[in-house]
Amino acid sequence: MNAVCYTALVRYYIQFTAGIGDLVYQTLTGELSGMRVEYSDDSAMIFEAADPPQRIAVLPYVKNAFLIVVSVGRGGLDASIVQLGRRLQNAMFPRSPDRGNGFRLMFHVDGALVPVNPKDKAALERAVAARTGRHVEPRGSCQEYWVVGRTGLDKLLLCMRLPRPRREEKARGAISRELSAVMVAASGPDPRDVFLDPFGGSGSFAVARLEHPVRKVWYSDIRLAEHRPAFDARLVRDDRVRLLDEDALRLPSISDGSVDVIVTDPPWGEHEALNRPYREFAAGIAASFARVLRPGRGRYVILINRDNAAVLLQALSASGIAPDDAHEVLVNGHPATVLVRGRAHDRADPVKTGQAALKPGHASRRTSARTAR
Ligand SMILES: C[S@@+](CC[C@H](N)C(=O)[O-])C[C@H]1O[C@@H](n2cnc3c(N)ncnc32)[C@H](O)[C@@H]1O
Repeated sequence: MNAVCYTALVRYYIQFTAGIGDLVYQTLTGELSGMRVEYSDDSAMIFEAADPPQRIAVLPYVKNAFLIVVSVGRGGLDASIVQLGRRLQNAMFPRSPDRGNGFRLMFHVDGALVPVNPKDKAALERAVAARTGRHVEPRGSCQEYWVVGRTGLDKLLLCMRLPRPRREEKARGAISRELSAVMVAASGPDPRDVFLDPFGGSGSFAVARLEHPVRKVWYSDIRLAEHRPAFDARLVRDDRVRLLDEDALRLPSISDGSVDVIVTDPPWGEHEALNRPYREFAAGIAASFARVLRPGRGRYVILINRDNAAVLLQALSASGIAPDDAHEVLVNGHPATVLVRGRAHDRADPVKTGQAALKPGHASRRTSARTAR
């Protein structure tokens, strides 16, 4: 079996929760080396990077990760599958992370698993078997090779699926694991951080933050007593975590300028009563965050519904903590915005500091090649 040496750029295909592509792109460009995006849509991306497959496989905001073995121009599905088989004969076949001897082909085209002509499937299976020394295993766990087509992509890919780490289910009503992880990653975690989520809810951001080295994690929620029984055990057992049930607009236990980074999801005022106009609530959030954040260096990542994003952005700016970036995302189909302050400060990039602007419309779709870092 041939093995690929990962000193050069490797081509990957990843799938993520629909609607978080903009944030995933921003985060990946900060985390990976030599990343160049070849294609992206609202729930998938093809890119090259110098990082090894083990690193891509464990990115917590990625649902499924694949290493691309070969690709061909996409014509009729059957003809393209035949071409993939031919292309495999000269391709460098990557070493499989699976220790068994079996493999299975899956055909995921335009968002669904599709049946294909059995003769073409068998020919492709023979080609994969010849290059890998593996045999077809119709059931059970084994190495999966996926044939992938996307509606906006003019290629058909043959990809090797990378092993997915086990992840626990999210609590009801909580932000998804992937969105929590990508928001925490967007905050630029630093081991010296004192972290705060003052609208903690199920604790999804605090748990995601504990995946990275951290000095201290503050969680607060006025309904702590209701949320606590469903907490992930790490929140209760980890002695770096402090749980509070304080009003996020006052936070009396937290000293001025003592927090390095806030990642949070305040109420959107859509399903819960705020007892005041949203503009006043936003001004209260901004004043409270400006008080507890470390002057000059404090960072935040805030998720807010798209309708209220401009009001919150204005309030944060008026309190001297304007965001540097705004990313449009979809949360279970609802348009939302992620306001980010901090990375520009870390990079000491004065041109960008405090210059977030809200775009009208939906999240940008990138289908052209982009190079970063
Ligand atoms: C949108 S939810 C947060 C969801 C959380 N990110 C999760 O994944 O579970 C907002 C939370 O803020 C809490 N909350 C509302 N007003 C608050 C206030 N003034 N101070 C602190 N917590 C508040 C609510 O109890 C609720 O749990």
